[in-house]
Amino acid sequence: MSIATTTSGPGGWDDNYIDALSEQGWALLPGFLSAEQVAGLRWEAMQSEDWRRAGVGLAGQTESNIRRDHTIWMQGDTGPQQDYLAAMEQIRTQVNRALFAGLFEYEAHFAHYPPGAFYRKHVDALRGRGARVLTSVCYLNPHWAPGDGGELVLYSDTDEARIINHIQPAGGDLLLFWSERFPHEVLPAHTDRYSIAGWFRRNIETANPL
Ligand code: OGA
Ligand code: MN
Repeated sequence: MSIATTTSGPGGWDDNYIDALSEQGWALLPGFLSAEQVAGLRWEAMQSEDWRRAGVGLAGQTESNIRRDHTIWMQGDTGPQQDYLAAMEQIRTQVNRALFAGLFEYEAHFAHYPPGAFYRKHVDALRGRGARVLTSVCYLNPHWAPGDGGELVLYSDTDEARIINHIQPAGGDLLLFWSERFPHEVLPAHTDRYSIAGWFRRNIETANPL
């Protein structure tokens, strides 16, 4: 059961994602980025030398049985990154206006899953604790094909064992979901998989500590 999000042509997207977020808690925006934007961001990611093994938990230990991706925090210091962050800012204000979500700031990293890399089932924020409210994942794989692996598996927020959807990491597509609600995992990639994972956060200063 999913609410379709419509696009108004290549690179176009509209407010239907707000309805999907409010009614089912997640939304897929196909073609959110243009092919040129995907190429620019992917190129920046690929030529960077700042890749780090991703960590888990508050202390950020690396746990290779849990996740094997590599990440670089986005600094917003290039044109393609500024465009991306501007688009996220638009989403932040739209979601706040429509859903009173109190999204305060945004943080994002590039992620690279080399062949064989995965990220086991997890949630991005602990219920009632984390500052992460809304997760965004934008895919930078222009030639993704069935068989390349690396699908994101989204699980139900009411029945953790039930799979809601398999999402292909196809170039330009953006996935949004409420961080506390949806367990998800990344299946092993068979080819290099690039993405930008980001989180809209509430203001920790004013957030209820529990
Ligand atoms: C994450 C994550 C999903 C993806 O980084 O927390 O779940 O599809 N990423 O890359
Ligand atoms: Mn996650």
